[in-house]
Amino acid sequence: MTSQELQATAKAMVAKGKGILAMDESNPTCGRRFKKLGIENTVDNRRAWRALLLTTPRLADYISGAILYDETIRQSTSDGIPFPPYMGQCGIIPGIKVDTGAKDLAGFPGEKVTEGLDGLRERLTEYKGMGARFAKWRAVITIGNQIPSRGCIHANAHALARYAALCQEAGIVPIVEPEVLIDGDHTIDRCHEVTSETLRAVFAELKEQRVLMEGMVLKSSMVISGLDCPKQARVKEVAEKTVECLLKNLPENLAGVAFLSGGQSSELATAHLNAMNAMHRGLPWPLTFSYARALQQSAMETWLGKSENVAAAQKLLCHRAKLNGAASVGSYSEEMEKEAA
Ligand code: 13P
Repeated sequence: MTSQELQATAKAMVAKGKGILAMDESNPTCGRRFKKLGIENTVDNRRAWRALLLTTPRLADYISGAILYDETIRQSTSDGIPFPPYMGQCGIIPGIKVDTGAKDLAGFPGEKVTEGLDGLRERLTEYKGMGARFAKWRAVITIGNQIPSRGCIHANAHALARYAALCQEAGIVPIVEPEVLIDGDHTIDRCHEVTSETLRAVFAELKEQRVLMEGMVLKSSMVISGLDCPKQARVKEVAEKTVECLLKNLPENLAGVAFLSGGQSSELATAHLNAMNAMHRGLPWPLTFSYARALQQSAMETWLGKSENVAAAQKLLCHRAKLNGAASVGSYSEEMEKEAA
């Protein structure tokens, strides 16, 4: 793949009015979400859930691509069509999570480093052969007493950059995801400081590793109050501080930014994205969504593992995707919440 093709794929991932569906939960994470709703964590249920998501009518109107998990990319629709070609037919670009998870960082209590570089070149070749056109790697930065450390930020930034370079070598667009966790009682200003330091380090490493900015997508967390912070910043402040932080730290030629939802409610995740786009026209890059929970939650609560609930769950997913599509161009309003299904 030439750099033109990488750029074209990256552009399509952040196309106007569309965002990315994250459905790459590992089996244990998927199991935790299922368990809360009394759904058994079996390979069949995981396949049925992913088939429900991907076969949602009109999903491609609002969803440019979907991130799959290793088990999922090998699975098929109920009609026996493997997911990647099925997605291709619908106009949804197949993506794949390639990191192997965040592990304890030796010597840094309470901090994590994401693993998965060993053998990555070969795995990327295999996934490319299966139809994947983009990939994802998530690094986790925790805010707490005396953390994050520079050592943790640097180790994660370096791994993200090595991963991104390998992806582009393989003709796969990397989604670079440094997630600053929402967990904790920190203020929005502390989140701003940590997010800024993290993004600065990540883009310095990406530059060192010669990663093509036009051929990658940043998946960022928003600048937001910690979940347990007594003073919760309002929507406008989250939007302002997030955009300010991005403008300060991102190169202008980056293909785009797709936010994670990170434990925000579905409605807030949409409202935050909308406020950023409504308040700031003419930013250097599109700002859109790459949500997992904030897209899937209401649909999963309706599905409950039962085939008779599939159509109702798909309606909810499509509606949520539509609202986020509107938020990605700043045209969402709270009234749109009511026109649900
Ligand atoms: P959430 O939107 O649920 O945070 O998930 C996005 C994601 O892909 C995390 O890596």
